[in-house]
Amino acid sequence: MRKPLVAGNWKMHTNSSQAQALASSVVSKISSVMDVEVVLCPPFVWLERVASLVRGTGILVGAQDTFWEDWGAYTGEISPLQLSEMCSYVIVGHSERRHIIGETDEIVARKARAVSRAGMVPILAVGELEQEYKEGISKEIVSNQLSAVLSDGWNHEIVIAYEPVWAIGTGLAASALYAQDMAAFIREQLGSYGLNQENVRILYGGSVNRGNFREFIGQKDIDGALVGGASLKAEEFAELVMMASPAMVD
Ligand code: PGA
Repeated sequence: MRKPLVAGNWKMHTNSSQAQALASSVVSKISSVMDVEVVLCPPFVWLERVASLVRGTGILVGAQDTFWEDWGAYTGEISPLQLSEMCSYVIVGHSERRHIIGETDEIVARKARAVSRAGMVPILAVGELEQEYKEGISKEIVSNQLSAVLSDGWNHEIVIAYEPVWAIGTGLAASALYAQDMAAFIREQLGSYGLNQENVRILYGGSVNRGNFREFIGQKDIDGALVGGASLKAEEFAELVMMASPAMVD
């Protein structure tokens, strides 16, 4: 049985007092939910503060990115070993990094390996662009993104976030059936790389909100969500966590 996971990707939002208020509010609303793994991914500069606010509550902290080397002369970068002092998860390959910053599959793969080496779990984001969706090549794109990370062999924990790029931040989520079809495809692919596919959690991401999440979490191969916009509202984020709780779904 895979434990549902709901991760909030705050992106480059919140100043210090907003970050503190948001984390405190999330803690007060959901610290009693034990059957869902909840991960807050604030900007790097607030990681330590958020980590200390959630300590002891069961809520975990994740980073939105990392560098792939452990130490060295890499001005401006953040080491996975530095992150591992406060983070359990790191998002790698988010579409904003792939398509705005220009990260390649090779870079994403290096980052994923660095995260594992540092003892954390990568949340590997994959997903097709709108044009690729229209061309009907979504599975090919996602399969290449998975292959870049997994084809050299992978025997650590990993979480996959399927996020069609056209659904991110647009208010136009994918249909739950489409997301389920892609998640089932991803699960099958994981098996072909020798992973124990039934144990790997697959999240959906892209305009998840309180109005649509119940449908996504009700799908057989969807184990939670990577949430952007709705994770900035403590009340709505808490509702999503409740919806993911097996106790609530049954
Ligand atoms: P969104 O972002 O929920 O605002 O669409 C999701 C993400 O980028 O992970």
